[in-house]
Amino acid sequence: MNNKTLRELANKRKIYIGAAVNPKLLETDRQYSGLLEKEFNMITPENAMKFWAVHPSEKKYTFKNADVLVRFTQKNQMQIRGHTLVWHKSIPDWVKTIHDEKKIKNIFEEHIREVAGHFKEKLYCWDVVNEAFADNGKLDKNSFWLNKLGPKHIELAFRIAHEVDQNSKLFYNEWGIEVINQKSNAVYEMVRDFTNQGVPIHGIGFQMHVGLGKNQMAEDVPEPGKLAINLKRFSDLGLEVHITEMDVQIQGLLGTQEERLCAQARVYRKILETCLHIPNFRALIQWGVTDKFSWIPSLAGKPDAPLIFDENYSPKPAYYALIEALA
Ligand code: XIL
Repeated sequence: MNNKTLRELANKRKIYIGAAVNPKLLETDRQYSGLLEKEFNMITPENAMKFWAVHPSEKKYTFKNADVLVRFTQKNQMQIRGHTLVWHKSIPDWVKTIHDEKKIKNIFEEHIREVAGHFKEKLYCWDVVNEAFADNGKLDKNSFWLNKLGPKHIELAFRIAHEVDQNSKLFYNEWGIEVINQKSNAVYEMVRDFTNQGVPIHGIGFQMHVGLGKNQMAEDVPEPGKLAINLKRFSDLGLEVHITEMDVQIQGLLGTQEERLCAQARVYRKILETCLHIPNFRALIQWGVTDKFSWIPSLAGKPDAPLIFDENYSPKPAYYALIEALA
């Protein structure tokens, strides 16, 4: 009978099992913080390090909430993934009202310096740039940063982050690149060029927002063989591989809730088992702590249960599936 926690099993394997965390809940909900301490050895801020959260106006930086997370991990011997320095979907309005491109460039550079500087020595890694590509493999034309600063802003962000913080591993993070497709090919070419040209990059984050059945708000669950081939080519570049934002939607599946939860458990298990065979795989993070606070219901507009702990913080079949994959 195995009654080790997820955290203990992950430690033994020298990998990280993590969850996206809300610092307000961490401070007010003992069950939430207790579950985190017990079951996880890594956390990431769901929102607390995003541009709008730490840099609400031009001259003002607010790190109070994100620092709650840092203290929590120091107290509990956990690691943090920093998320995220550059993401066009987390830019506050005050930035978007500026038109002078030189000024925008200064803000961009200063933001990275300040934020990476503040958390220097405290983070395991940074998602330096998040979601810069579109499905067709081109840079996302909706990106404010692309439109104002051009494609070179990605490389620039990595260079500045590394200049300020030489210890954190620097990641490119993206959704919908779990298998080989136009987008993952484009990301692959970019990060391969970065490694060839000495642009400081150390890892690649695969978000893994997936769903079973009929889902409009998620990627299909990747087939293990196809996932393995794709992850391996990134690992072969010498990059660390993280699953950074996993959730598995099930509201589109037919059958009973019990059947849905078992199908979901099989997905968690297969994904982790596949990853464990990838040489540079180091971390699997779920996007939330329990189903009670998952972002999926508000995104999809209907209830769901995409994580490994339920609304009452109890372990689901998916939790036991991860335990079995690690045991
Ligand atoms: C989401 C959060 O979960 C929400 O609370 C917020 O309203 C929007 O952002 N890809 C990412 C994450 O990289 O930062 C996003 O998080 C989910 C999609």
